[in-house]
Amino acid sequence: MKKYITTPIYYTNGAPHIGHAYTTILADVFKKFEQMKGNDVFFSTGTDEHGQKNQHSCEASGLSADEFLTRQSQLFRDLFDRMGIDYDYFVRTTSEEHKKVVRTVLQDLFDRGLIIKKSYEGLYCEGCEQFKKKCDLTEEGLCPDHLKAPKVISEENYFFRLEPYRQWLKEFIALNPDWITPTNYAKEVLGMLEEPLDDLCIFRPKDRVWLGIELPFDKDFVTYIWFDALINYISTLKFGENVEFNDYWKSSYHLLAKDILKPHCIYWPIMLKAIGIEPVSRCIVHGYWIGEGGVKMSKSLGNVVDPNEVIDIMGVEPLRFYLINNMSLSNDSPISIALLRQGYKLLANNLGNLQMRVLKMVDKNLEGVIPAGISLTAEDEKLLTDISSDFKSVYVKDSSLETAVDLASKIMTACNQVNAYFAANEPWVLAKNPENMDRFKQVIYTTLDALRLIATALYPLMPNSSKSILASLDVKNEKVEAQFEAKGLGEGKITVPNPLFPFLPE
Ligand code: MSP
Repeated sequence: MKKYITTPIYYTNGAPHIGHAYTTILADVFKKFEQMKGNDVFFSTGTDEHGQKNQHSCEASGLSADEFLTRQSQLFRDLFDRMGIDYDYFVRTTSEEHKKVVRTVLQDLFDRGLIIKKSYEGLYCEGCEQFKKKCDLTEEGLCPDHLKAPKVISEENYFFRLEPYRQWLKEFIALNPDWITPTNYAKEVLGMLEEPLDDLCIFRPKDRVWLGIELPFDKDFVTYIWFDALINYISTLKFGENVEFNDYWKSSYHLLAKDILKPHCIYWPIMLKAIGIEPVSRCIVHGYWIGEGGVKMSKSLGNVVDPNEVIDIMGVEPLRFYLINNMSLSNDSPISIALLRQGYKLLANNLGNLQMRVLKMVDKNLEGVIPAGISLTAEDEKLLTDISSDFKSVYVKDSSLETAVDLASKIMTACNQVNAYFAANEPWVLAKNPENMDRFKQVIYTTLDALRLIATALYPLMPNSSKSILASLDVKNEKVEAQFEAKGLGEGKITVPNPLFPFLPE
């Protein structure tokens, strides 16, 4: 089955931070998870390069727009490549392919009378690139996300009417309770739909914003950044040209944090409805990583955790694991280098040590040979079937994408079970007495097979560690597949590799 997974496209006004890294890693985990279940996934990410914020940073850099945007966009691409992100398409909104689709959509809506021109006065937050209502602001009149007062702007402009679609959207969300998950965000969107929707001002006069897509029907204006950016989700699939568009769109998933709920869950389905396309299949929303100071991490607030710094300290895969293990989608979660180090220690103690201990014992006492084909006790069998059925329940063919979010905690639970089993059976004591050799082999085989199950389940989160553990167990498969049968480990010879999670200097 074909699936389409997207991340938001990120602003290029600063370097990528851990929030951008997270959503992109989440998408990559989902892709690998779906691939293990045999699905064909197209995953897109990219950069949102127009609008006022990008323009201001570009002007401050002293570079030409092309130089600045290419340099900034490359920072995201470099990070994603470094994090092992297997995206299929990296969209830049300044690309001709994208701009062409935006212009076609605009012209079509204009021709059908869905875009109107009128004068307008409103409160505009540059950080959000959105007009705000008084009720959206704090008591002090500031934007709650950027803690800045919006500017009063009055101008003649073009508008796209949202209100005629409000009732339809309310009903659509009520009829499709899983369309926005977790459900707390769906409630938030339904709350926004209780009030009439203002017309959406979809262009910016060029004397205020020059970095944007010029309107096909008025050269004095550029396209409002959200109208331009949201269209990336269909321009990426080559809307209008690609015969497979519908196959992917039928199972399409937008990942985003709660900051951009309104554009994704109100503007976008309405835009699509006007264009004549079904809404995306699902919006999967997550909370914020909260930085030092207990507030949302953001470039404008200057409290960001730099993913490149984290990778320099501990490598990519512990970062991937930490982010998936510690974010519950419906809430915010704290993050700092100290917390990431704690997460690393947990992995090293629960998984890394288990692997090294058992492999060294096989090497020392069994000349590296896996004791396959022996009978096991009921206790051994139970451990393996418990772990196997837990992973099978996650990897069932029709499980939803978000089940992958629970993988990290399921893996930690399995590691705890195996560590407890290993400690209780004391194979290092058994090894000392030749009479206990049969029991020793049972304990070792059970532990090795459990490790194989854990390493297999680990693949979407830590692909290289997964492959390296499987290789140390002499499991030869080019492509990690969802094979969760208990006692699946066959004959072979283990190798003792370098530790996956070596001690980190402070
Ligand atoms: N360019 C728009 C999105 C257009 S999509 C058609 C934008 N860009 S952004 O650079 O601000 O990225 C916002 C997204 O980055 C969030 O929705 C989330 O995916 C990720 N995050 C940015 N900061 C975050 C946190 N502090 N915590 C978690 N994720 C965050 O909005």
